[in-house]
Amino acid sequence: MTIDIAVLPGDGIGVEVIAAAMKVLEHVARGGGHPIQATYADVGWAAIDKHGTALPAATRDVCRRSKAILFGAVGLPDRDKTLPQAQRPERVALLELRKGLFANLRHVVLPPGLAEHCPLKAHLIAAGIDIMIIRELTGGLYYGKPQGISGDAPNRAAVDTMAYSEKEIVRILKVGFETARKRRRRLTSVDKANILATSQLWRETATAMGADYPDVQLEHMYVDNASMQLLRRPTEFDVIVTENTFGDILSDEASMLCGSIGLVPSACLGDDPSVVPFYEPIHGSAPDIAGQNKANPIGAILTVAMMLRYTFGLNQEATAIEKGCSKVLNAAKVLTGDLGGKASCSDVTAAVIAAM
Ligand SMILES: NC(=O)c1ccc[n+]([C@@H]2O[C@H](COP(=O)([O-])OP(=O)(O)OC[C@H]3O[C@@H](n4cnc5c(N)ncnc54)[C@H](O)[C@@H]3O)[C@@H](O)[C@H]2O)c1
Repeated sequence: MTIDIAVLPGDGIGVEVIAAAMKVLEHVARGGGHPIQATYADVGWAAIDKHGTALPAATRDVCRRSKAILFGAVGLPDRDKTLPQAQRPERVALLELRKGLFANLRHVVLPPGLAEHCPLKAHLIAAGIDIMIIRELTGGLYYGKPQGISGDAPNRAAVDTMAYSEKEIVRILKVGFETARKRRRRLTSVDKANILATSQLWRETATAMGADYPDVQLEHMYVDNASMQLLRRPTEFDVIVTENTFGDILSDEASMLCGSIGLVPSACLGDDPSVVPFYEPIHGSAPDIAGQNKANPIGAILTVAMMLRYTFGLNQEATAIEKGCSKVLNAAKVLTGDLGGKASCSDVTAAVIAAM
């Protein structure tokens, strides 16, 4: 199978970690006999400097013609400040490329070898952390209408609207159930059904759908409780599915359990075949370490594993990458500075390839 992808390294360490991820992809694809058709395109400040916009038409075209988008990071805080919010690279490029992709998956794994980097006590994480967080990405509070500020000071008022249709709830819960089915078969549906109407519809829908997935153990949890349980018993979570705002907050909280933001991959998926799936490590452009070969490439490398699994169905290759990464992390000998090590981005990449 041809691995036909748009590669958008973007700004700062995006360039380094995507180069690392591509090396691993080339290695695994060669082994499996899968040709790669990778088209590189500019995005972020890299694109503004050359074409005057963070998402040039040529980049959109490359993305539209590919089967998946592999994205590094965009934005440079010092330069972002010079632009109005609506023209900043994160707004322009990310929102546009993710349009129509309603399921944001973040895979949070703490390999036992990195236990000391988890902020929690050893006995709470002894069983290992491996959580897939699925956040609804296109509905809820961020997009509901009416939204805005009205009136004159000091009597202004502001409103945001949390809205979900049953169809939107069903399609994201389906991703949750199907994902749980391929993992440890436990699904935690997070809501605030004791207060919010959207959550009551969410919970009713999840309960009804549960009947179609008798092999998946479904539990409901209020979002306030979920934020506590992530710190109290993180090892018991398998798949978490939740709406946009709750998912935004809980996924950031969960990401910290594995010790470094540089370790976490993500995918944005939809169900419309004309919308190209989008894959990126969750970190930003990290200008403080950019261009120094210091970035942790694991998040980007694991992002490639997600891409191979979800878009290309290459599970064997995806698993090989994941195993290579966990071998390196568990051995804890070749680690970048964010994990207390002295290895470079290229050292870690070479170690992962050697371990595969
Ligand atoms: N999806 C995206 O493109 C995205 C996401 C987040 C932030 N950003 C942008 O990136 C820029 C910097 O943002 P920030 O500093 O808030 O977040 P950041 O994720 O870039 O960095 C936060 C801290 O984590 C460290 N870090 C991040 N990734 C790392 C890695 N792979 N290895 C080692 N250390 C790593 C950085 O050195 C920094 O100290 C901003 O312009 C922001 O808007 C972009």
